[in-house]
Amino acid sequence: MPAVQGCVFDAYGTLFDVHSVIAACREVAPDAPALSETWRAKQLEYTWLRALMGHYEDFWVITEAALRYALRRHGLRLAPAQQQRLLEAYYRLDTYPEVPAALQQLRQRYPLAILSNGSPAMLQAVIAHNRLQEIFTQVLSADAVRTYKPHPAVYELAPRHLSIPKTALLFVSSNAFDAIGAKAFGFQVAWINRSGAPLDELGFVPDFEIQRLDELPARLASSP
Ligand code: LAC
Repeated sequence: MPAVQGCVFDAYGTLFDVHSVIAACREVAPDAPALSETWRAKQLEYTWLRALMGHYEDFWVITEAALRYALRRHGLRLAPAQQQRLLEAYYRLDTYPEVPAALQQLRQRYPLAILSNGSPAMLQAVIAHNRLQEIFTQVLSADAVRTYKPHPAVYELAPRHLSIPKTALLFVSSNAFDAIGAKAFGFQVAWINRSGAPLDELGFVPDFEIQRLDELPARLASSP
C-alpha cells in the first residue's frame, strides 16, 4: 500500500456528534435520545433513497424532512419556530471531545480535508462553530455532484481536488456504510467504530479499525 499523503474525514458522526441535538430535543420530546436516533436514521435513509431515485435535494432539505418524519413518528407537534430551532442545532453540533487535539496533531503531518454529504453552508457553519477553519485545506461537499455517499462520484471529489491518488488518501469515517463505500471506491480506510458494532456484511473491509480519533496519529506514525 502506498504511504498516506493526506487524510479525508467524514463530518457527521465522525468529527461532529449528531446527537448533540439531544439537548435541543429535550425541550420538546419526552424521549429526546429516541427522537434524535430516528432523525439521524431517516436523514441517512433519505440520502440513499434520493441518490437511488436520482432526485437530489441538498442535505439541509433532507435533514429538515427527516426531522418532520421523526416528529410525526414520535407523535410530536411543534410550532414552526420550535421546529426551526431544532433544525438549527445542526449548525452548532459539538465535536467528539478528542477530535480538535487529534486534528491539530494530524495536520502537522498531512493535508486534511472534509468530504461530507453536508451542504456547503451547513459544513461552514459547524466548522466555524467549533473554530476548525484553520485545520482543513479543503471542505468538499457531495452537493458538487448532486448525489450522496456511497456513490463513487462523491468520493471521487477528494482525489480530484487534493491532487493525490485515491490509494494514497486515508479516508476516515465512523459511519460503517461510508467506510465500506470508501473502501469500495479504492481509498485506504480507517473506521472509527465508537460503539464496538459489528461491520456490515458488504464484502469490503476497512484497512483498520480504531475506537477514537486520537488513536489515529500513533497508528499512522507506525506506518511507513
Ligand atoms: C456525512 C454523513 C455520512 O457527513 O454523515 O457525509
